[in-house]
Amino acid sequence: MKEVMIVTGAGQISMAIARRVGYGKKIVMGDKNIQNANAIAKTMNDAGYDVVPFEMDLSSRESILKMIEEAKKYGPITMMVNGAGVSPSQAPIETILHVDLYGTAVLLEEVGKVIEPGGVGVTISSQSGFRMKQLTPQEDEQLACTPTEELLNIDLLKVENIRDTLHAYQLAKRCNEKRVMAESVKWGEKKARINAIAPGIVVTPLAIDEFNGPRGDFYKNMFASCPAGRPGTADEIANVAELLMSDRGAFITGSTFLIDGGATASYYYGPLKPQQ
Ligand SMILES: NC(=O)c1ccc[n+]([C@@H]2O[C@H](COP(=O)([O-])OP(=O)(O)OC[C@H]3O[C@@H](n4cnc5c(N)ncnc54)[C@H](O)[C@@H]3O)[C@@H](O)[C@H]2O)c1
Repeated sequence: MKEVMIVTGAGQISMAIARRVGYGKKIVMGDKNIQNANAIAKTMNDAGYDVVPFEMDLSSRESILKMIEEAKKYGPITMMVNGAGVSPSQAPIETILHVDLYGTAVLLEEVGKVIEPGGVGVTISSQSGFRMKQLTPQEDEQLACTPTEELLNIDLLKVENIRDTLHAYQLAKRCNEKRVMAESVKWGEKKARINAIAPGIVVTPLAIDEFNGPRGDFYKNMFASCPAGRPGTADEIANVAELLMSDRGAFITGSTFLIDGGATASYYYGPLKPQQ
């Protein structure tokens, strides 16, 4: 038996984190697109990791539970990385809400029930959650604490109250931040920790779809005009994940770490500030 790391979303950010912290572990690499999971598993197995690809859909509780059952066959679950997601140019409002918002909430809840003492997880949210106007304290609490099966029924998340796919994505990522806070209390009861990382633009297939989508020029300007002056790489996200998932992060839980080259700072107080 080995310690097991559950990964959802066989994408670039997931792989970078799995390579950084997943050595010596059994890694169950889940993705809706099994070709992606197979490809990442092959790259990592060729580099000495122990990865098994698994077809799963983050938007389905049943699928999440099947993945957890599969993972338990290999040993105790000590790590979780949630890097599955769809972006505003990739999917309609309903899909973004089901995958990025509901699916993430269910995954945190279900893994939280089985995570070992000393276990640790990260979920990938986004700078987009920081770009939306402030919600009321009551709305934030609803995002944090509404039971998962009722989440998509709250007024804030009703499709008729959502402007477009970007707004849905922002709400989903804000919800991730709030869920991580609420779940960290439950994970803490099991002596486990859970945090979120909110990346800015990181070059991956998902970001490339955004560059080629209706907001492509907006995104290209965002990284060119942010303090870092460039997009990020998945390995830079793994730098933060490594801290959070190691003993050096032992006092960090329930937090969201913005790593965006300063784009959010510039959006509020610099050249990226929207013109009125
Ligand atoms: N790349 C960026 O610029 C950026 C910025 C902010 C946040 N993010 C977030 O990072 C996360 C990872 O994205 P990435 O950039 O590594 O993209 P990626 O395209 O490399 O990987 C995303 C993976 O998620 C999978 N996926 C999509 N829907 C799924 C579902 N329902 N169930 C299971 N798997 C599913 C895709 O098949 C894909 O393999 C996403 O949540 C994304 O919103 C990315």
